Amino acid sequence: MNIDRDLLQKFERGLDPQHPERSAIPARIIGYGEITTVFEIDAEGVRDLAFKRLPLFNTDAEVERYTAVFVEYNRLLEEEIGLRLPPHDHVVITNARGRPVFYIVQQKFPADSMGTAILQRATPDQVGTLVEHVLHQVCKVWQFNRQHQHLQIAIDETFSNWAWSGHDLFYVDTSTPLFRVNGVEQLDTELFLRSAPSFLVWILRLFFLHDVVNRYYDPHRVLVDLIANFYKDQRPDLVPMGVRAVNEFLATHAREFDIAPLTEKEVRDYYREDAFIWSLYLAMRKVDRFLRTRLLRGEYPYILPEKIVR
Ligand SMILES: Nc1ncnc2c1ncn2[C@@H]1O[C@H](COP(=O)(O)OP(=O)(O)O)[C@@H](O)[C@H]1O
Ligand SMILES: [Mg+2]
Repeated sequence: MNIDRDLLQKFERGLDPQHPERSAIPARIIGYGEITTVFEIDAEGVRDLAFKRLPLFNTDAEVERYTAVFVEYNRLLEEEIGLRLPPHDHVVITNARGRPVFYIVQQKFPADSMGTAILQRATPDQVGTLVEHVLHQVCKVWQFNRQHQHLQIAIDETFSNWAWSGHDLFYVDTSTPLFRVNGVEQLDTELFLRSAPSFLVWILRLFFLHDVVNRYYDPHRVLVDLIANFYKDQRPDLVPMGVRAVNEFLATHAREFDIAPLTEKEVRDYYREDAFIWSLYLAMRKVDRFLRTRLLRGEYPYILPEKIVR
């Protein structure tokens, strides 16, 4: 990809994190993850690109380490596992305070081709096919992991991370490159506690590192997460069909992996707990933003969603 670095540098320097549309180079937020913010930038030559901003780094060494892990993760997914990723690149720039900011640049998909949008307008009889399409891709990861004991790769298979384009499914969520070499996590997961209020870091370390990260390496739990997100995506009515579709897949195409089937109850219980953790987390971050921007008059570099509908 041929990215205009100067433009991105100007964008970052002129960015108003609280009001991106009022930035020197105007931008619109097209997606919030739990960690990253995804922009489209209104400037010549970049309108068909999605920009994912990660303001997590303090030093060049940290961003270099992250870059190496990010590049290798993309390579593993594309070349070793055979997932389709959108054409992509990355750019590291320096913000006004001299800190490195990492941008992932991807070809942008139309909003209505993203998995969440497709799920939101799906009819109950389409759910089985949608789930099956995703699981055929996920199966490639399970296959790889089984054949490579020393190298284990995790993806976040939830619907919001897939784009449907023609007959292909593209995986877009590469900002959390999780893979373990001989059991050692290559990503410094502590980075993701950075955006957290300092008064919460210890409790998040407990949840985040031990629970959220491990979850992605456990096929059964990732499947529970996949269907539990139907609640978050405002389609609780599709949960029973989703559970049935997953179990059907596990009993046929994925029988060799011997993964325990799901129950509706565990999906429901999981959602309640997960939604609680993240809404508490977001609420605490807002308190933190208030303290830092209003009371302490400091810089608040992160961008928070106003309200995540659950
Ligand atoms: N290439 C893309 N084109 C269009 N929208 C995208 C693209 N990548 C991400 N998005 C939107 O932004 C959201 C968050 O992006 P994602 O990469 O999943 O970040 P996170 O790791 O924070 O979840 C996605 O669910 C999607 O709605
Ligand atoms: Mg995502």
